[in-house]
Amino acid sequence: MPCKVAPSLLSADFLRLEEDLKMLNQSDADMLHLDVMDGVFVPNISFGFPVIEQVTKICTKPLDAHLMIVEPQKFISEVKECGAYLMNVHYEACTHLHRTVGEIKEAGMKAGVTLNPHTPVEMLEDIIQDVDMILLMSVNPGFGGQKFINQTIEKVSRLKNMILRKNLNTWIEVDGGVNMETGKALVDAGADILVAGNFVFNSANPLETIKKLKEI
Ligand code: DX5
Ligand code: ZN
Repeated sequence: MPCKVAPSLLSADFLRLEEDLKMLNQSDADMLHLDVMDGVFVPNISFGFPVIEQVTKICTKPLDAHLMIVEPQKFISEVKECGAYLMNVHYEACTHLHRTVGEIKEAGMKAGVTLNPHTPVEMLEDIIQDVDMILLMSVNPGFGGQKFINQTIEKVSRLKNMILRKNLNTWIEVDGGVNMETGKALVDAGADILVAGNFVFNSANPLETIKKLKEI
């Protein structure tokens, strides 16, 4: 089954954002992945709501917001107002994850829970039934262009088994270091959606790269 692809805006050319967004609109991409960083949860700062609001004026793809921030529950209404389809919060950043997932869904968005590389998928046993998507980090979050952590492939298999065992249809998205090779291994293991930043935007032909990823 072909996978879905969510290019990450983090690797776009911010001086040519409009052109990059128009290119994505014409592409086979399924969603646009937006990485929001606060310099506290992760050791980097990216962009925030004023930028995303402008992006939504042009982007025709559903927005997949990845909040790499502490206390993401404080910003559910802002993320919704930006027009996000999906809001991903980190397991490691949410003390009351069940409540936060409920609030995201009540706001009218799909709820995603993200795991850092060191967090076992087994921690999801009692929340996965309430979640639309699990986002597995295959790098330590904070930067584009990092090396893929191979252990993620086994993690995807274990998560897929949990989803099947519980008779759910939760999507599995993977983020970080995705290319043709790692992407193939992830899809074979059960991943449904691949996030790709550097591999798409630094390729000679991003439209073609997105197409090839989707054909994995
Ligand atoms: C990393 C971000 C990713 C990043 C992926 O913290 O969450 O979405 O943009 O970039 P690549 O595909 O270059 O690893
Ligand atoms: Zn991301």
